[in-house]
Amino acid sequence: MAKSKKVKRIGILTGGGDCPGLNAVIRGVTKPAQDYGMSVFGILDGFEGLVEGRAKELYNEDVSGILAMGGTILGSSNKGDPFRYPVARDKEIEIVDKSQAALRNYEAWNLDALIAIGGDGTMHISHRLGKMGMNIIGVPKTIDNDLDATDLTFGHDSAVYVVSEALDRLHTTASSHHRVIVVEVMGRYAGWIALNGGLAGGADIILIPEIPFSWQKIYDKILQRELAGKKFSLVCVAEGAKSFDGKMVVKSTDIKRSDPIQLGGIGAVVAKNIELNTGRETRVTVLGHLQRGGSPTPYDRILSTKFGAFAVELAANKKFGRMVSLKGSDVKNVKIEDAINKQKLVKPDTQALVVGKAIGISFGE
Ligand code: F6P
Repeated sequence: MAKSKKVKRIGILTGGGDCPGLNAVIRGVTKPAQDYGMSVFGILDGFEGLVEGRAKELYNEDVSGILAMGGTILGSSNKGDPFRYPVARDKEIEIVDKSQAALRNYEAWNLDALIAIGGDGTMHISHRLGKMGMNIIGVPKTIDNDLDATDLTFGHDSAVYVVSEALDRLHTTASSHHRVIVVEVMGRYAGWIALNGGLAGGADIILIPEIPFSWQKIYDKILQRELAGKKFSLVCVAEGAKSFDGKMVVKSTDIKRSDPIQLGGIGAVVAKNIELNTGRETRVTVLGHLQRGGSPTPYDRILSTKFGAFAVELAANKKFGRMVSLKGSDVKNVKIEDAINKQKLVKPDTQALVVGKAIGISFGE
């Protein structure tokens, strides 16, 4: 786009796994866009729609009433990377480069900019599309909160709320039956959901990928609690947690996905070992996609709205190749290329971890 040309038409897509707050961002983009004289074009099903040419105009009436709605009115996909696009051929899946098709659609739709809402995978793809000539603005989302370039991603607070509520409910039944209940939560390779959700819901043991655990320490904690008169325990385990002599538990692999590995199953392993080695009746609950569905928390609604409105401002000012990011309580922006490949993990001095230890939570160390 020529430097002098005004930004008149922006595309918007939601890529990767969905999370609460996506609709609030779409609304936060679409409503102020008209004040800048921009039209908004919604691309369907993430990058799949960009490759395959599926999109629709977005007007104010389309985004009215969606602030509190979970999911995304545009649809999303974690299988549409234009640079590694899965195509079915003779019952086999072939991975091909469809980035030129994506560029052709971007040009055919007369887009001056594209707002891509997504996690690390989406930002990677966005960076590469930017190098091909698209004017990209990134908005970071993920329940996992594992992007280093922003203090927080929207969706995380809502997921933590679900974990906390689940632990509250499991607390009463665990206590009535004098049981151990293991709750497996999402988060991929980062322990933020387990740490924050476990802290909020009063878990006795929290297991995260960043701290490989000792089986014996888990058994000891459960038996120590019993000696102290607590005949039940709640264990909050991140899907990526592993023992120091074991591996992450992989549920399945799928080459069509941006990250082919799907984690899951550690909760059942932990529950089985606890029952075998402590003799205490143990149950497991896997929260799974409950953490991604439903209405965003008020905090996420506010953050998403700010992110959306800020993204339009970046577009109007032609600050392309930038990603919206939260620094402290202010919304700022960083270069997309500086935001990718930098995972934010729980560190030994992370305050929630330090505080968790101070109040007696075991991390299986
Ligand atoms: O990145 C978000 C996330 O929910 C992870 O916590 C989880 O590992 C993964 O996505 C699940 O992906 P899918 O919805 O494809 O099963």
